Amino acid sequence: MAQEIKTSLSLKEAIEQRRAARSFRPDPIPTEIFQEILRLGVRSPSGFNLQPWRFVVVRESANKERLRECAFDQRQVTEAPVVLICCGDRQVNRSDYIESVIELGTKAGAMNDSYADYLRSAIPQLFDNQPCFESLEAWTNRHTMLAVAHLMIVAKSFGVDSCPMEGFVTAQVKEAFNIPEEVDVCCLLAMGYAAEPFKAYGGRFDIEQVCYGESFGNSFQL
Ligand SMILES: Cc1cc2nc3c(=O)[nH]c(=O)nc-3n(C[C@H](O)[C@H](O)[C@H](O)COP(=O)(O)O)c2cc1C
Repeated sequence: MAQEIKTSLSLKEAIEQRRAARSFRPDPIPTEIFQEILRLGVRSPSGFNLQPWRFVVVRESANKERLRECAFDQRQVTEAPVVLICCGDRQVNRSDYIESVIELGTKAGAMNDSYADYLRSAIPQLFDNQPCFESLEAWTNRHTMLAVAHLMIVAKSFGVDSCPMEGFVTAQVKEAFNIPEEVDVCCLLAMGYAAEPFKAYGGRFDIEQVCYGESFGNSFQL
């Protein structure tokens, strides 16, 4: 049996101690830890379990240099041992892909014929009629960013720092890394070990400022 890799921080500690790292040491992330971060990161939920996230794992120096050129010269792109180009695939409504989701669910013991048929009709309808999202890009981002959040928290629980980045030029990243037209680039995620103290914590609004009671705009009390 594979040996369990222990986290160094609890969930609460990982959430409270995670910060956006702007500088990284060159130390690599041990393979078994990186594998575990990816495995747990993609435990993230998705509509119909479609799992549209795709990650281009960039580790080679020359490729990180190219990526940095697409990312407003942000130093964390070349300093971090790994940068993920976090993408969302719009084409998960293809019938062959839906069948692969059904097969996965069947192997996991979570599928039956009527649910499989439901997926075969409901997923194309969701994408054709788009009642639940304004654009396909919103849909891919909704899912991929949730997986990115998982990745950042899981990484921190193993002592691995990260920096999510929206500072990049999409068209340049797509061209440089052969990302197809129908795949959206949602963010970059640099991962590794922070090199210097983080910037001062910027704080978060009180929950009363970001939560409303029952209807948008109504004050919320616990
Ligand atoms: C979607 C997203 C995009 C971001 N883009 C960048 C970026 O391009 N460059 C950067 O240095 N930080 C970026 N950040 C990091 C934020 O500046 C940082 O998360 C925020 O200031 C709060 O700090 P903290 O994460 O350390 O708590 C981004 C964060 C998110 C969630």
